[in-house]
Amino acid sequence: MKRHSVFITRATPEEATALLASEGFIVHQNSLPRGLSREEMLKEVARHDAVICQAPDRIDADVLAAAAPRCRIFANCAVGYDNIDIAAASRLGIVISNTPGVLTEATADLTWALMLAAARRVCEGDRVVRAGQWRGWGMLDYLGADVFGKTLGIIGGGRIAAAVARRAAGFNMRVIYTSRSEKAAMNEAGGRRMPFDDVLREADFVSIHVALTDETHKLFDERAFAKLKREAILINTARGAIVDEQALIAALFSGRLAAAGLDVYTDEPDVPPELAGLKNVVLLPHIGSATVTTRVKMACLAADNVIAVLGGRPPLTPVVKT
Ligand code: NAP
Ligand code: GLV
Repeated sequence: MKRHSVFITRATPEEATALLASEGFIVHQNSLPRGLSREEMLKEVARHDAVICQAPDRIDADVLAAAAPRCRIFANCAVGYDNIDIAAASRLGIVISNTPGVLTEATADLTWALMLAAARRVCEGDRVVRAGQWRGWGMLDYLGADVFGKTLGIIGGGRIAAAVARRAAGFNMRVIYTSRSEKAAMNEAGGRRMPFDDVLREADFVSIHVALTDETHKLFDERAFAKLKREAILINTARGAIVDEQALIAALFSGRLAAAGLDVYTDEPDVPPELAGLKNVVLLPHIGSATVTTRVKMACLAADNVIAVLGGRPPLTPVVKT
Protein backbone atom coordinates (compact mmCIF):
# COMPACT_ATOMS: atom_id res chain seq x y z
CA MET A 1 0.00 0.00 0.00
CA LYS A 2 1.24 3.50 -0.86
CA ARG A 3 2.40 5.39 2.22
CA HIS A 4 0.90 8.80 2.92
CA SER A 5 3.18 11.82 2.90
CA VAL A 6 2.88 14.63 5.49
CA PHE A 7 4.59 18.01 5.19
CA ILE A 8 5.44 20.11 8.27
CA THR A 9 6.03 23.76 7.41
CA ARG A 10 8.35 24.70 10.32
CA ALA A 11 10.30 23.38 13.31
CA THR A 12 7.97 21.28 15.49
CA PRO A 13 8.42 19.13 18.63
CA GLU A 14 9.82 15.78 17.59
CA GLU A 15 7.07 13.93 19.49
CA ALA A 16 4.73 14.83 16.60
CA THR A 17 7.05 13.58 13.86
CA ALA A 18 7.64 10.39 15.87
CA LEU A 19 3.88 9.91 16.20
CA LEU A 20 3.36 10.32 12.44
CA ALA A 21 6.28 7.99 11.65
CA SER A 22 4.91 5.36 14.05
CA GLU A 23 1.70 5.38 12.01
CA GLY A 24 3.69 4.64 8.86
CA PHE A 25 3.57 8.11 7.30
CA ILE A 26 6.50 9.60 5.40
CA VAL A 27 7.28 12.91 7.10
CA HIS A 28 8.89 15.82 5.25
CA GLN A 29 9.77 18.88 7.29
CA ASN A 30 11.03 22.31 6.34
CA SER A 31 14.44 22.38 8.02
CA LEU A 32 15.27 25.97 7.07
CA PRO A 33 15.52 28.43 9.98
CA ARG A 34 12.67 30.42 8.35
CA GLY A 35 9.21 29.86 6.92
CA LEU A 36 8.84 28.97 3.25
CA SER A 37 8.66 31.68 0.61
CA ARG A 38 5.38 31.86 -1.25
CA GLU A 39 6.83 30.03 -4.26
CA GLU A 40 8.28 27.30 -2.04
CA MET A 41 4.97 26.91 -0.22
CA LEU A 42 2.94 26.66 -3.46
CA LYS A 43 5.30 24.00 -4.77
CA GLU A 44 5.61 21.99 -1.54
CA VAL A 45 1.93 21.70 -0.54
CA ALA A 46 1.10 20.09 -3.91
CA ARG A 47 3.35 17.10 -3.11
CA HIS A 48 1.73 15.76 0.09
CA ASP A 49 -1.44 14.20 1.49
CA ALA A 50 -1.47 16.43 4.57
CA VAL A 51 0.17 19.64 5.80
CA ILE A 52 0.88 20.67 9.39
CA CYS A 53 1.13 24.46 9.38
CA GLN A 54 1.56 27.21 11.96
CA ALA A 55 0.15 30.67 12.73
CA PRO A 56 2.74 32.62 10.65
CA ASP A 57 1.97 30.56 7.50
CA ARG A 58 -0.46 32.34 5.18
CA ILE A 59 -2.69 29.60 3.82
CA ASP A 60 -4.75 31.52 1.29
CA ALA A 61 -6.96 30.40 -1.59
CA ASP A 62 -3.98 29.98 -3.97
CA VAL A 63 -2.05 27.78 -1.52
CA LEU A 64 -5.16 25.67 -0.90
CA ALA A 65 -5.85 25.37 -4.63
CA ALA A 66 -2.25 24.24 -5.23
CA ALA A 67 -2.66 21.61 -2.49
CA ALA A 68 -6.19 20.49 -3.37
CA PRO A 69 -5.59 17.80 -5.96
CA ARG A 70 -3.83 15.64 -3.37
CA CYS A 71 -3.90 17.18 0.10
CA ARG A 72 -6.80 16.29 2.41
CA ILE A 73 -6.03 18.29 5.54
CA PHE A 74 -4.19 21.38 6.77
CA ALA A 75 -3.69 20.90 10.51
CA ASN A 76 -2.94 24.31 12.04
CA CYS A 77 -0.70 24.18 15.11
CA ALA A 78 -2.66 26.99 16.78
CA VAL A 79 -6.15 27.59 18.09
CA GLY A 80 -6.52 30.76 15.98
CA TYR A 81 -7.05 30.15 12.26
CA ASP A 82 -7.22 33.66 10.83
CA ASN A 83 -4.13 32.70 8.76
CA ILE A 84 -6.25 30.29 6.70
CA ASP A 85 -8.89 31.02 4.07
CA ILE A 86 -11.61 28.86 5.62
CA ALA A 87 -14.17 29.51 2.87
CA ALA A 88 -11.71 28.42 0.17
CA ALA A 89 -10.82 25.25 2.11
CA SER A 90 -14.49 24.44 2.42
CA ARG A 91 -15.08 24.94 -1.33
CA LEU A 92 -12.07 22.78 -2.17
CA GLY A 93 -13.04 19.99 0.25
CA ILE A 94 -9.91 20.34 2.41
CA VAL A 95 -10.29 19.67 6.15
CA ILE A 96 -8.86 22.38 8.43
CA SER A 97 -8.14 21.58 12.06
CA ASN A 98 -6.78 23.68 14.94
CA THR A 99 -5.51 22.99 18.49
CA PRO A 100 -8.16 24.23 20.95
CA GLY A 101 -7.99 23.54 24.67
CA VAL A 102 -4.44 22.24 25.03
CA LEU A 103 -2.99 25.77 25.11
CA THR A 104 -5.68 27.48 27.17
CA GLU A 105 -3.95 27.47 30.57
CA ALA A 106 -0.49 28.39 29.24
CA THR A 107 -1.95 31.36 27.35
CA ALA A 108 -3.96 32.46 30.38
CA ASP A 109 -0.79 32.32 32.52
CA LEU A 110 1.06 34.48 29.98
CA THR A 111 -1.83 36.97 29.98
CA TRP A 112 -1.41 37.34 33.73
CA ALA A 113 2.36 37.66 33.36
CA LEU A 114 1.74 40.63 31.03
CA MET A 115 -0.88 42.12 33.33
CA LEU A 116 1.41 42.03 36.36
CA ALA A 117 4.47 43.13 34.39
CA ALA A 118 2.67 46.12 32.85
CA ALA A 119 1.06 47.16 36.15
CA ARG A 120 4.24 46.86 38.23
CA ARG A 121 6.78 48.04 35.64
CA VAL A 122 8.64 44.74 35.89
CA CYS A 123 10.49 44.96 32.56
CA GLU A 124 11.43 48.61 33.07
CA GLY A 125 12.87 47.73 36.50
CA ASP A 126 14.80 44.80 35.05
CA ARG A 127 16.32 47.05 32.37
CA VAL A 128 17.39 49.64 34.96
CA VAL A 129 19.11 47.02 37.16
CA ARG A 130 20.86 45.36 34.21
CA ALA A 131 22.13 48.73 32.96
CA GLY A 132 23.70 49.46 36.37
CA GLN A 133 21.43 52.53 36.70
CA TRP A 134 19.69 51.61 39.95
CA ARG A 135 20.51 54.11 42.70
CA GLY A 136 18.90 52.16 45.56
CA TRP A 137 15.47 51.96 47.18
CA GLY A 138 13.39 55.08 46.68
CA MET A 139 9.96 55.87 48.11
CA LEU A 140 8.83 57.48 44.88
CA ASP A 141 10.61 55.24 42.40
CA TYR A 142 9.00 52.87 39.88
CA LEU A 143 5.51 53.28 41.27
CA GLY A 144 2.95 51.18 39.44
CA ALA A 145 -0.71 50.27 39.71
CA ASP A 146 -2.45 47.89 42.13
CA VAL A 147 -3.83 44.69 40.67
CA PHE A 148 -5.43 43.24 43.80
CA GLY A 149 -9.05 44.33 44.19
CA LYS A 150 -9.30 46.06 40.80
CA THR A 151 -11.77 45.49 37.95
CA LEU A 152 -10.75 43.15 35.14
CA GLY A 153 -12.60 43.67 31.84
CA ILE A 154 -12.42 40.71 29.48
CA ILE A 155 -13.20 41.02 25.78
CA GLY A 156 -14.62 37.66 24.74
CA GLY A 157 -16.00 34.69 26.59
CA GLY A 158 -14.18 31.69 25.13
CA ARG A 159 -11.77 29.19 26.64
CA ILE A 160 -8.82 31.53 27.33
CA ALA A 161 -11.13 34.33 28.50
CA ALA A 162 -12.62 31.98 31.12
CA ALA A 163 -9.18 30.71 32.21
CA VAL A 164 -8.02 34.32 32.69
CA ALA A 165 -11.21 35.09 34.64
CA ARG A 166 -10.71 32.08 36.95
CA ARG A 167 -7.27 33.34 37.95
CA ALA A 168 -8.74 36.72 38.96
CA ALA A 169 -10.30 35.20 42.11
CA GLY A 170 -6.82 34.99 43.65
CA PHE A 171 -6.45 38.74 43.18
CA ASN A 172 -9.90 39.52 44.59
CA MET A 173 -10.81 41.23 41.32
CA ARG A 174 -14.25 42.11 40.03
CA VAL A 175 -14.61 40.51 36.59
CA ILE A 176 -16.75 41.99 33.82
CA TYR A 177 -16.83 40.71 30.26
CA THR A 178 -18.36 41.33 26.87
CA SER A 179 -19.40 38.56 24.54
CA ARG A 180 -21.99 37.88 21.86
CA SER A 181 -23.81 35.56 24.26
CA GLU A 182 -23.92 34.78 27.98
CA LYS A 183 -21.08 32.36 28.89
CA ALA A 184 -21.58 29.84 31.70
CA ALA A 185 -17.81 29.45 32.29
CA MET A 186 -17.38 33.22 32.60
CA ASN A 187 -20.33 33.51 34.98
CA GLU A 188 -19.02 30.58 37.07
CA ALA A 189 -15.71 32.45 37.37
CA GLY A 190 -17.66 35.38 38.84
CA GLY A 191 -17.85 37.37 35.60
CA ARG A 192 -20.73 39.70 34.75
CA ARG A 193 -21.61 40.24 31.07
CA MET A 194 -21.90 43.84 29.90
CA PRO A 195 -21.97 45.78 26.62
CA PHE A 196 -18.52 46.47 25.11
CA ASP A 197 -18.60 50.21 25.91
CA ASP A 198 -19.50 49.58 29.58
CA VAL A 199 -16.55 47.21 29.97
CA LEU A 200 -14.28 49.89 28.49
CA ARG A 201 -15.63 52.53 30.87
CA GLU A 202 -15.46 50.41 34.06
CA ALA A 203 -12.35 48.24 33.74
CA ASP A 204 -8.93 48.97 35.24
CA PHE A 205 -7.44 46.14 33.16
CA VAL A 206 -8.81 45.21 29.74
CA SER A 207 -7.70 41.88 28.31
CA ILE A 208 -8.52 40.85 24.73
CA HIS A 209 -9.49 37.22 24.01
CA VAL A 210 -11.69 37.26 20.91
CA ALA A 211 -10.74 35.61 17.64
CA LEU A 212 -9.60 37.89 14.79
CA THR A 213 -12.46 38.16 12.28
CA ASP A 214 -13.85 40.86 10.00
CA GLU A 215 -16.01 41.99 12.95
CA THR A 216 -13.16 42.17 15.49
CA HIS A 217 -10.57 43.71 13.13
CA LYS A 218 -9.49 47.05 14.74
CA LEU A 219 -12.17 46.66 17.42
CA PHE A 220 -9.86 48.80 19.55
CA ASP A 221 -9.75 52.04 17.58
CA GLU A 222 -9.48 55.69 18.59
CA ARG A 223 -13.12 55.66 19.68
CA ALA A 224 -12.58 52.66 21.98
CA PHE A 225 -9.42 54.17 23.51
CA ALA A 226 -11.33 57.39 24.25
CA LYS A 227 -13.77 55.40 26.41
CA LEU A 228 -11.12 53.74 28.62
CA LYS A 229 -10.17 55.06 32.04
CA ARG A 230 -6.95 57.08 31.93
CA GLU A 231 -5.36 54.63 34.38
CA ALA A 232 -6.47 51.59 32.35
CA ILE A 233 -3.99 48.94 31.22
CA LEU A 234 -4.63 47.04 27.97
CA ILE A 235 -3.44 43.46 27.48
CA ASN A 236 -3.53 41.73 24.09
CA THR A 237 -2.64 38.05 23.76
CA ALA A 238 -5.24 37.39 21.02
CA ARG A 239 -4.25 38.87 17.64
CA GLY A 240 -2.52 42.15 16.83
CA ALA A 241 -4.98 43.33 14.19
CA ILE A 242 -7.81 43.47 16.76
CA VAL A 243 -6.09 46.67 17.90
CA ASP A 244 -5.44 49.68 15.66
CA GLU A 245 -1.72 49.94 16.43
CA GLN A 246 -1.45 53.63 15.50
CA ALA A 247 -4.38 54.48 17.80
CA LEU A 248 -2.73 52.40 20.57
CA ILE A 249 0.60 54.20 20.13
CA ALA A 250 -1.17 57.59 20.25
CA ALA A 251 -3.07 56.58 23.41
CA LEU A 252 0.09 55.33 25.16
CA PHE A 253 2.11 58.34 24.06
CA SER A 254 -0.46 60.88 25.20
CA GLY A 255 -1.14 59.16 28.54
CA ARG A 256 -4.74 58.46 27.44
CA LEU A 257 -3.88 54.84 28.33
CA ALA A 258 -1.62 54.11 31.30
CA ALA A 259 0.15 51.04 29.94
CA ALA A 260 -0.13 47.99 27.71
CA GLY A 261 1.13 44.44 27.57
CA LEU A 262 1.34 42.92 24.10
CA ASP A 263 2.14 39.43 22.87
CA VAL A 264 0.79 39.94 19.34
CA TYR A 265 1.16 42.53 16.57
CA THR A 266 -0.53 43.40 13.28
CA ASP A 267 2.38 42.58 11.03
CA GLU A 268 4.50 40.02 12.89
CA PRO A 269 7.42 39.87 13.35
CA ASP A 270 7.54 43.62 12.61
CA VAL A 271 6.81 45.72 15.68
CA PRO A 272 6.26 49.46 15.20
CA PRO A 273 9.44 51.21 16.42
CA GLU A 274 7.28 53.74 18.29
CA LEU A 275 6.12 50.93 20.60
CA ALA A 276 9.67 49.84 21.33
CA GLY A 277 10.47 53.42 22.30
CA LEU A 278 7.75 53.61 24.97
CA LYS A 279 8.44 52.74 28.63
CA ASN A 280 4.81 52.01 29.47
CA VAL A 281 4.46 48.98 27.24
CA VAL A 282 5.65 45.40 27.71
CA LEU A 283 6.43 43.64 24.43
CA LEU A 284 6.61 39.87 24.05
CA PRO A 285 7.33 37.82 20.89
CA HIS A 286 4.01 35.92 20.52
CA ILE A 287 4.76 33.33 23.23
CA GLY A 288 1.29 32.78 24.71
CA SER A 289 1.41 28.99 24.30
CA ALA A 290 5.19 28.65 24.53
CA THR A 291 5.72 26.10 27.28
CA VAL A 292 7.46 22.80 26.56
CA THR A 293 4.46 20.65 27.47
CA THR A 294 1.92 22.84 25.69
CA ARG A 295 3.86 22.95 22.43
CA VAL A 296 4.22 19.14 22.50
CA LYS A 297 0.45 18.80 23.07
CA MET A 298 -0.31 21.22 20.21
CA ALA A 299 1.99 19.40 17.78
CA CYS A 300 0.65 15.96 18.79
CA LEU A 301 -2.96 17.15 18.46
CA ALA A 302 -2.17 18.43 14.95
CA ALA A 303 -0.56 15.05 14.15
CA ASP A 304 -3.58 13.19 15.57
CA ASN A 305 -5.87 15.22 13.30
CA VAL A 306 -3.74 14.21 10.30
CA ILE A 307 -3.70 10.56 11.38
CA ALA A 308 -7.50 10.56 11.74
CA VAL A 309 -8.23 12.20 8.39
CA LEU A 310 -5.71 10.17 6.37
CA GLY A 311 -7.07 7.07 8.11
CA GLY A 312 -10.56 7.88 6.82
CA ARG A 313 -11.88 9.06 10.20
CA PRO A 314 -13.28 12.47 11.21
CA PRO A 315 -10.76 15.04 12.51
CA LEU A 316 -10.63 15.44 16.30
CA THR A 317 -10.74 19.24 16.34
CA PRO A 318 -12.04 20.48 12.99
CA VAL A 319 -12.52 24.07 11.95
CA VAL A 320 -13.72 22.94 8.54
CA LYS A 321 -14.92 19.36 8.29
CA THR A 322 -15.73 18.13 4.82
P1 NAP B 1 -12.38 30.43 21.69
O1 NAP B 1 -12.68 29.62 22.90
O2 NAP B 1 -12.90 29.97 20.37
O3 NAP B 1 -12.87 31.92 21.96
C1 NAP B 1 -12.93 32.84 20.92
C2 NAP B 1 -13.74 34.03 21.34
O4 NAP B 1 -13.82 34.89 20.20
C3 NAP B 1 -15.17 33.72 21.77
O5 NAP B 1 -15.46 34.57 22.85
C4 NAP B 1 -15.97 34.11 20.55
O6 NAP B 1 -17.26 34.55 20.84
C5 NAP B 1 -15.17 35.30 20.06
N1 NAP B 1 -15.48 35.62 18.68
C6 NAP B 1 -15.33 34.83 17.59
N2 NAP B 1 -15.77 35.48 16.50
C7 NAP B 1 -16.20 36.68 16.93
C8 NAP B 1 -16.78 37.79 16.28
N3 NAP B 1 -16.99 37.79 14.96
N4 NAP B 1 -17.14 38.87 17.02
C9 NAP B 1 -16.95 38.86 18.36
N5 NAP B 1 -16.39 37.82 19.03
C10 NAP B 1 -16.04 36.75 18.33
O7 NAP B 1 -10.82 30.60 21.50
P2 NAP B 1 -9.65 30.60 22.60
O8 NAP B 1 -9.09 29.24 22.68
O9 NAP B 1 -10.13 31.26 23.84
O10 NAP B 1 -8.59 31.54 21.85
C11 NAP B 1 -8.91 32.91 21.62
C12 NAP B 1 -7.90 33.55 20.70
O11 NAP B 1 -6.66 33.70 21.37
C13 NAP B 1 -7.55 32.73 19.46
O12 NAP B 1 -8.47 32.98 18.40
C14 NAP B 1 -6.16 33.20 19.11
O13 NAP B 1 -6.24 34.25 18.19
C15 NAP B 1 -5.62 33.75 20.42
N6 NAP B 1 -4.49 32.96 20.96
C16 NAP B 1 -3.26 33.54 21.05
C17 NAP B 1 -2.22 32.85 21.63
C18 NAP B 1 -0.87 33.47 21.77
O14 NAP B 1 0.14 32.77 21.63
N7 NAP B 1 -0.77 34.75 22.07
C19 NAP B 1 -2.38 31.52 22.06
C20 NAP B 1 -3.63 30.96 21.93
C21 NAP B 1 -4.70 31.70 21.39
P3 NAP B 1 -18.50 33.53 20.85
O15 NAP B 1 -18.24 32.60 21.99
O16 NAP B 1 -19.65 34.43 21.00
O17 NAP B 1 -18.45 32.79 19.53
C1 GLV C 1 -1.52 31.15 18.80
O1 GLV C 1 -1.43 32.29 18.54
C2 GLV C 1 -2.73 30.38 18.66
O2 GLV C 1 -3.70 30.87 18.08
O3 GLV C 1 -2.71 29.23 19.11
